[in-house]
Amino acid sequence: MKLVASAAIAAVTVLAATSVASSSPNPRPSRDEAALAPTRAAPSRGVEAKVNALLAKMTTQEKLQQVQLLSDGQVTDADARVGVGGVFSLVDPAKIDHLQHLAVEESRLGIPILFAYDTIHGYRTIFPVPLAAASSFDPSVARADASIGARESAVVGLKQIYSPMVDVSHEPRWGRIVEGNGEDPYVGSVMAAARVKGAQGLDYSARNKVVTSVKHFVGYGQPEGGRDYDATDMSEQRLRNLYLPPFKAAIDAGSDTVMCSFNTINGVPGCANPYTETDILKDEWGFDGFIESDYTAVAETRACPPVTPNEGSCGHGTAADGPEAAANALMAGTDSEMVSTYIRDYGAQLLSQRRITKSRLDDAVRRILRVKFRAGLFEHPYVNQAKATDPASFLTPADRTAARTAAGKSMVLLQNNDATLPFDSTKKTAVIGPLGDNQHDMLGPWWGRGEDADAVSVLDGIAAQSPGATFAQGCTLSNDEPPAYDPANDCASDDGFAEAVAAAEAADQVVLALGETREMSGEATTRSTLDLPGRQQELIDAIKATGKPFVVVLFNGRPLTLGAVAESSPAILEAWFPGVEAGNAVADVVFGKVNPGGKLPVSFPQRLGQVPIYYNHEPTGRPCDVTQKYVSRYRDLRSCDPLYSFGFGLSYTTFSVSGLSLDRASVSPSGKVRATVTVTNTGDVAGDEVVQLYLHDPVSSISQPVRRLRGFERVTLKPGESRRVTFTLDRSDFGFYDNRGDFVVEPGQIEVYAGDSSQATMKQTFTVTGR
Ligand code: NOJ
Repeated sequence: MKLVASAAIAAVTVLAATSVASSSPNPRPSRDEAALAPTRAAPSRGVEAKVNALLAKMTTQEKLQQVQLLSDGQVTDADARVGVGGVFSLVDPAKIDHLQHLAVEESRLGIPILFAYDTIHGYRTIFPVPLAAASSFDPSVARADASIGARESAVVGLKQIYSPMVDVSHEPRWGRIVEGNGEDPYVGSVMAAARVKGAQGLDYSARNKVVTSVKHFVGYGQPEGGRDYDATDMSEQRLRNLYLPPFKAAIDAGSDTVMCSFNTINGVPGCANPYTETDILKDEWGFDGFIESDYTAVAETRACPPVTPNEGSCGHGTAADGPEAAANALMAGTDSEMVSTYIRDYGAQLLSQRRITKSRLDDAVRRILRVKFRAGLFEHPYVNQAKATDPASFLTPADRTAARTAAGKSMVLLQNNDATLPFDSTKKTAVIGPLGDNQHDMLGPWWGRGEDADAVSVLDGIAAQSPGATFAQGCTLSNDEPPAYDPANDCASDDGFAEAVAAAEAADQVVLALGETREMSGEATTRSTLDLPGRQQELIDAIKATGKPFVVVLFNGRPLTLGAVAESSPAILEAWFPGVEAGNAVADVVFGKVNPGGKLPVSFPQRLGQVPIYYNHEPTGRPCDVTQKYVSRYRDLRSCDPLYSFGFGLSYTTFSVSGLSLDRASVSPSGKVRATVTVTNTGDVAGDEVVQLYLHDPVSSISQPVRRLRGFERVTLKPGESRRVTFTLDRSDFGFYDNRGDFVVEPGQIEVYAGDSSQATMKQTFTVTGR
């Protein structure tokens, strides 16, 4: 059996305080399961016939134009007149409309251009970064982001977004870990599907919807050394069990375009890889949309000069020159070439030399036209300029509210000694730190058309709820980009510390806003340390010495090594880059209007040397035991755990997760097992808990991860309230991919763990009775 949509189905029943009903009569699908349910096919509106009719009229040159994707800086009126297929990064609605009129009215066949943009965590309404949204463990957060981003993008004439980014990653050094959903394929799948459904709806021809492009296909999240664009090498089982599932979930949710990646995987470039692009994506999964290359990724497959002519980008050396790069990419399954122009330029020559086939070129064009027809571009090619230029089309009060809710749900409370938080807003609050009075960095690394001035700073958000709040910066972080950027300029001087200490001493409580700049996250931003940049730890120590209660609020796009922060700080709130409503959302959590309920979607190591460290690792014959020598451990660390585990996060209340029970002791390979737990709010304020269900297969033909998340549900409970949560498990949960690429279910025992993090210890077992 080939890849099956992950299907841990959960259902919840609300109970009277602490009493537990015996079963859930009509279980409703949980949010994770609902997010993963395949999307109904949109009405075809005779698309295939229209595609074929149009294709039959096209000349070779027109086909080669259709597979070309140009940037805003490249495209000219002449390109539109000869029928270029796509344009990206152009956002001026007047220019989009102008080019579209040329394409539709002056190109011979009038095929509209598909305009695309990187709407990653918002177009104008900037939401929390995707890694933050994943921390919500609530797919409605990702869905709301994608839905608002789609509407704001579509109004200016964009019809495709280069999102969701679903690269599973165990590499916190890699700056792009911020764009994805962390280390877990199940969370990644749920969030991927939610984003696709949010952006596309059931039919992306709707005027407020866009087609999504899921990226980067594939393995881009695991570059060697964490260096962006670097090589990936992995076994078949890892590819299929860890990295492919979120792509499959996005495709099942209806994503009609895919972006192939820069990196090589096992030596083969992502955009010239027949195995991943054609065998898996198109043939095995039945994907009938199109694959566009990443930026110059086709050109980057060429060897560099002096082996090849000097024609721009080069690198992998799997092609000798431009024509060979074009042939390899097209024949591997890449349908559209971004920025470099080799398929367009050499296509006719390659056809006559029989190095590419007409049927493959036709297939690529057919796929692109199919998406354009499905997108309704032929019916509605033009931009409504009045709407596109009306400020009321963007960043509405409702959009801001959604962004604020999302940011609050995404924050993770990492430490709260002696109930330091929530603070009392009537007391005097000092906001201190390089990110305390800052709008720019709050937006994170893909700010789209978001403007710094849109963002609510921590100071403004805190002052709105705690009037008279004061501010001292302490030190500054550098927003320079290479080559000007010098890490020695990050919080380099302690000149401002005395003022910060004075501000703390004059206040009752301190919000210490620390972390990374937005320039430290995103593409090409690998770091060689995960420590707080510069002298920020010294700033913490100086504030600690005042004896005032304080919380470190962290803004960052990757796991950081927070051991010293945890030792010195009573409270730590991981806020990530929260987006346009940053300060308001921070204030909501700090003053207890919002009870934090986020959980980490990625492990935080104690030290960089532990990387890669992830919860779903394979077991070893010599498991860690810090009292022993010949075991899997670090000689210079007294524990083998991360500092903060996957799935971990605190709350202002307490919860118990108890009474894990299974509805059967054995199951046939095609059967289902229902696992039920009870979650109770045992504290005295309302709050959210994320109930998590993990599986482990202890005896299998290939070694299985120590545990794998297969279901989660974020529930809101009043004090004393209990709820039963039921997860339905089937073969997609208890099986796995082997190294032949086959999905297998093997007879034997399966262990089930439930709790509030990946450290859950409550356990039951069931037996799978066959294959
Ligand atoms: C390169 C990035 O890798 C990709 O994520 C992005 O969509 C394209 N540039 C287009 O901006």
